[in-house]
Amino acid sequence: MSSDSNPSRDAGSGDEKTQNADPPKASIVVDGREHEYPVIVGSEGEHAIDTRKFRSQTGYITYDEGYGNTGSCQSEITFIDGEKGVLRHRGYPIEQLAEKSTFMETAYLIIYGELPTDDELTSFRQHVRENANLHEDMRHHFQGFPPDSHPMAVLSAMLNAVGCYHPQMSRNNREEELARFQEAATLLISKVRTIAATTYRMSQGLPAVYPRRDLRYVENFLHMMFSDPYEPYETPKEVFEALDLFLLLHADHEQNCSTSTVRMVASGGANLFASVAAGVCALWGPLHGGANAAVIRMLESIHRDGDDGSRFIKDAKEGKARLMGFGHRVYKNYDPRAKIFGEAAERMLKALGREDPLLDIARHLEEAALKDEYFVERKLYPNVDFYSGLVLKAIGIPVNMFTVMFAIGRMPGWIANWKEIAESSKRIHRPRQIYTGKNARDYVPVEKRG
Ligand code: ACO
Repeated sequence: MSSDSNPSRDAGSGDEKTQNADPPKASIVVDGREHEYPVIVGSEGEHAIDTRKFRSQTGYITYDEGYGNTGSCQSEITFIDGEKGVLRHRGYPIEQLAEKSTFMETAYLIIYGELPTDDELTSFRQHVRENANLHEDMRHHFQGFPPDSHPMAVLSAMLNAVGCYHPQMSRNNREEELARFQEAATLLISKVRTIAATTYRMSQGLPAVYPRRDLRYVENFLHMMFSDPYEPYETPKEVFEALDLFLLLHADHEQNCSTSTVRMVASGGANLFASVAAGVCALWGPLHGGANAAVIRMLESIHRDGDDGSRFIKDAKEGKARLMGFGHRVYKNYDPRAKIFGEAAERMLKALGREDPLLDIARHLEEAALKDEYFVERKLYPNVDFYSGLVLKAIGIPVNMFTVMFAIGRMPGWIANWKEIAESSKRIHRPRQIYTGKNARDYVPVEKRG
């Protein structure tokens, strides 16, 4: 296989694309015959061979289990350079957004492509505020779940249920849904938080707390989680800042497992509610969003065993354990979100005067792993989940709600990705496979089997 362009050049050199007079091409030789394919160049200089015609021309398919090498779409939302630890939303570096923006503003940016003006942000916030309430009948749905149901199962079901209360936005009629997109987007960003808090209250046998119009997004969530009729919850400044940052850092992350799921479901023509409900299910697993809860369970078990992390590292190297919150399919360098959040976790715990022995264990694990040949060789660094659980724990969020918190943060990314599909893609996503099962054989009647 050869290519007349140079994919190894640095990301960030997007200008070269416009300087190239001839569009780049790649050729692939199959069974002695050469086939030429266009090369697609992204705005940051990343290259892809456009193999859409490969099968019809050669009879072959490309095989890429786990999609580590497959571009499933072209997207304008998020850019990651995993080798360099770069993450940008709509061009803005995550470090600048984390320092200067808020979750609401970043959500707007991710969904609509530009930072909002003052008026646009006010109106966006207003819509989110107005949509916080759940239809009163939805309380019955919550009561239908056994008390120890996992909150991710409840969240997925309830997001689909919300769609049932808004049929004009969930009839799988693209034109109708796009016309009401802003309403559906703000409604979901708002209600996902109310559903999460209500799930928690119900699981504790506590009365549901209604949202308040005078509170900001994060405060309103904490109010619905922790206020009692006789004692309103007052959000400490440090908690507000840490939780807003947590949500902002999770707002989007390119074609990860759950976002790809959202796009896949959307590609079949499903509405936004159904698509994000599927995203929640994909996020649930411990190799994806479930890792933040798995990290705390791992740190607790290390603590219980009286280990400082050294024994656990040894087990991880021998394949007997997995260092949760470490490693990433895309980042082969520090996950920039982990760096930002690691520092924020320390700041918050200090400001709140909380000492958590798990933070010391986490720091020790990180230090040991970053020096260890096994982790260095495999380019395994802490990911966003490594420290986020410690912050959520300090806020008082129960461990089984951690992945729900991730889902609240990821909602803008899912919505933006659904919008890209709804606005442009006409093709259903449908990968191929290599069949490795039995060859054709005749049906055997039951009396002759044995
Ligand atoms: N601990 C120990 N070894 C690891 C870890 C880890 N956390 N992650 C990867 N490795 C090892 C693998 O065993 C493999 O070793 P080998 O080459 O000797 O077989 C090598 O590193 C490459 O790992 P893969 O599994 O091929 O990496 P992949 O890209 O498929 O997986 C994943 C990425 C799922 C994130 C993985 O690193 C992992 O399981 N991490 C722990 C779970 C986690 O933190 N998930 C959150 C991801 S971020 C997110 O979704 C928000």
